[in-house]
Amino acid sequence: MTHQEIRQRFLDFFKQRGHIIVPSSSLLPDDPSVLFTTAGMQQFKPYYTGQADAMKDFGSLNTASIQKSMRTSDIDEVGDDSHLTFFEMLGNFSFGGYWKKETIEYAYEFLTKELKLKIDYVSIFKGENDIPADEESEKIWKKIVPDIKVKKLGRSDNFWGPTGNEGPCGPTSEIFVNGAEVWNLVFNQYYCDKDGKLELLKTSGIDTGMGLDRLATVVQNKKNIFETDLLEPILKLAPLELEEKVKRVIVDHSRAIAFLISDGVQPSNKEQGYVLRRLMRRVITHNFIAKADLTLTHDKSLRKP
Ligand code: GLY
Repeated sequence: MTHQEIRQRFLDFFKQRGHIIVPSSSLLPDDPSVLFTTAGMQQFKPYYTGQADAMKDFGSLNTASIQKSMRTSDIDEVGDDSHLTFFEMLGNFSFGGYWKKETIEYAYEFLTKELKLKIDYVSIFKGENDIPADEESEKIWKKIVPDIKVKKLGRSDNFWGPTGNEGPCGPTSEIFVNGAEVWNLVFNQYYCDKDGKLELLKTSGIDTGMGLDRLATVVQNKKNIFETDLLEPILKLAPLELEEKVKRVIVDHSRAIAFLISDGVQPSNKEQGYVLRRLMRRVITHNFIAKADLTLTHDKSLRKP
């Protein structure tokens, strides 16, 4: 299955289940507390808190999107089998329309029936610092797949958000396929304020996120994201003589650079422009250093005696 088919199947699946398909927003969000759009829920933040009305704006409490996203927190991991700076995130969202049961059932049905994948195991929030364990999700998973393996983890693994200084957040259930985490189901029950204090939201909401490159890796039965039909064609353009890891960094950063520029970012010494400049510099230095290393290896006169 091509990545285009995966995208289409995802959108069709949720459209058939009453979701309004919302186009990706820009990589540059309205929210001044973040530099970039890092997840599908970013453009929907006001709908979780009641500041905006989904029925009025979308005619439905449920939406789905494929969101351009940019995360620089893992930049040093780029070049391994699964990390990226820029990626597309497939997500379904609900602002009081449905809750954990439907979210878990949709995810299970989409992965196992629509994409014919086998789930290795799932994880749920085990409770921490006065935030109760998510027993409800465990029960729902076990009702669908009685012998499913459920890992119970703490706040650093199974609690998501907020994006920026404050916002909706909550316990998560993550789904693992072929050893990779493919889908994060977030149950937005809380609002986290600037001081980190949690308060229950008036209406609980759903926010899910599934990176397209990782999903394509398991659907296409590849060993890493760079072998999928999303990234392999770009990888083939990188100079053949470069080391695999260097090529991967160049591929990831070049794609991120292209999307940042197309959303209006220009290189500069601050904020988004600084990130763009840094990515450009990393592409140039990786290429240059790798080539210099190769020269040293091949040109005997440059080698140390
Ligand atoms: N908003 C959920 C995620 O990014 O994983």
